[in-house]
Amino acid sequence: MCGIVGFVGARQAAPILLDGLSRLEYRGYDSAGVAVVTPQGEIDLRKAKGRLQVLNDMVHGGADLDGCVGIGHTRWATHGVPNSTNSHPHMSEDGRFAVIHNGIIENYAEIKEYLIRQGIHFRSETDTEVVAQLLEFYYNKCHDFFRSVGRVLRRIKGAYALGILCADCPDRMIAARKDTPLLLGFGDGENFIASDVTALLPYTRDVVYMDDGETAILTREGIEVFDPLQQPIEKEHHHIDWDVSAAEKGGYPHFMLKEIFEQPDALSRAISPRIRDGRVVLDDMKLTAEQIRSFDRIYIVACGSSYHVGMVGKYNLEHLTRRNVEVCLASEFRYSDPIVDARSLVIVISQSGETLDTLAALREAKARGAYILAIVNVVGSSVAREADDTLYTFAGPEIAVATTKAYSTQLAVLNLIGLAFGETLGAVDPTEYHEAVTELERLPELARQVLSRCDDIQEYAAANFNHSSVFYIGRNLDYALGLEGSLKMKEISYIHSESYASGELKHGTISLIEDGTLVVALGTCGRLFDKMISNVIEVKARGAEVLALTTESRRDAMARVASTVLTVPDTIDLLLPNLGVIPLQLYAYYVALQRGCDIDKPRNLAKSVTVE
Ligand code: AGP
Repeated sequence: MCGIVGFVGARQAAPILLDGLSRLEYRGYDSAGVAVVTPQGEIDLRKAKGRLQVLNDMVHGGADLDGCVGIGHTRWATHGVPNSTNSHPHMSEDGRFAVIHNGIIENYAEIKEYLIRQGIHFRSETDTEVVAQLLEFYYNKCHDFFRSVGRVLRRIKGAYALGILCADCPDRMIAARKDTPLLLGFGDGENFIASDVTALLPYTRDVVYMDDGETAILTREGIEVFDPLQQPIEKEHHHIDWDVSAAEKGGYPHFMLKEIFEQPDALSRAISPRIRDGRVVLDDMKLTAEQIRSFDRIYIVACGSSYHVGMVGKYNLEHLTRRNVEVCLASEFRYSDPIVDARSLVIVISQSGETLDTLAALREAKARGAYILAIVNVVGSSVAREADDTLYTFAGPEIAVATTKAYSTQLAVLNLIGLAFGETLGAVDPTEYHEAVTELERLPELARQVLSRCDDIQEYAAANFNHSSVFYIGRNLDYALGLEGSLKMKEISYIHSESYASGELKHGTISLIEDGTLVVALGTCGRLFDKMISNVIEVKARGAEVLALTTESRRDAMARVASTVLTVPDTIDLLLPNLGVIPLQLYAYYVALQRGCDIDKPRNLAKSVTVE
């Protein structure tokens, strides 16, 4: 997500922090800030919205900030719009603490309310500011920097990589990590923290990766690392020999592959703050139960992969809410004279929040009186600003043109909406609801299991990358999943591919199946499995080579008819597209790799399509 850099040494900190942040610019950000402890024992903090250059110019390349201990941050907004107040570092009210943070503090609202009742004033809308304010609150009781950090970490829930300065301790910085990457860099008489090794390469290649629950105290002389019980521990050092381009991709050859592997963490960020005590709680949605009950039409409007999320969403939302859901391509919706009025809910899905067709459809629906609920990744983007309500996906910056983690998190958020609406409308069976919530909580782990088998897919792709045409077939949710698998294949490998509802093949398309045609048969959903088996037999009889995808429990049955079988773990049907999409992303990726394609920047495509 955001970028973190910290420095403790004998040199002026700010120029080093700014240089480190510039090496993290590729990750995307909307604002930046730095803070140092001055020789007078005060914290000097500067931040600015926009490009890092704005901050750089403001502080004359760092020359304006006097101090040898400091922290720097590039922010990708999650809580609160991108502006300089919401950007990091955040200070406590008395200016004693400055904090940078990557991740999400899930219980920040409750802590904030508590601190406000204690008379503490907040400046920003962020979850991070509670860390700075809580530190001050505890420090005023014990006057011990390290102990105060320990108390804060026990109080907060969620994911964090933290860099913390205390004006009373001008020789040190404290770092802490849980579920968000943070590493320590060891220099000569100077030490560092960073969210990403890229930031440190000109200064040191001797690093330690922090593990969950660990804290570290950094001084010029060295770095002490502590376990979750604050006992000192020894850590293994790593020597980084990657070049800058490999380091930006975290050691992966392409951003797309890195982002595919980031899906379990991205899913956790999208799901876990929204499940409490076995229930879906959408605190970040303004819609009331009364409004939800008042809608007589639900539309999902989006483009490309976001539209494919809508296709899965239609099946799931209709099942969970027993309301009619219509999915529309944004580019068609706006010119279709849609039947939309004040009793319509229009769910708009967009990773970038800037897709022109989607934005135009949103405006059209809004002008007709609809309520707009957006599912967006980029905080403060046009779609997020213009919608009545926005649920963020928290996928983090997505750099590869072909979307992967944004698709997965959009799907997860749509399922959360389906469950929340289903409960409000009394339409979902309570047993099914509880099972769905439990399985949603397991989803990141299940996604991790699918990723652990990526070698099988790579092996298959090594022998199957030269087909001139690929057909993806499936029924119901598997049909919707196939749309995305097929798009991934064509956009990055340039192989012609089509996605068909299996039952529709016989109405024409089956004439294209001949000896050696590759058919990717998606048979993950239990309810329609037997029908899919028949479809596999049907295309095999016409000479197709069949790569099938099903669940572990159905592997043997599928293996009796398909040429090759890939599997995902069993879970409820509702969530299978979330797992099934991973092997399809990987297959497209490895095929494109074999064909020597420009995977992260496919020809003719742009990450954000801001033209009609
Ligand atoms: C998918 O891999 C694409 N690059 C593309 O279809 C994309 O999903 C579409 O352009 C919509 O973008 P958005 O989600 O940013 O609105």
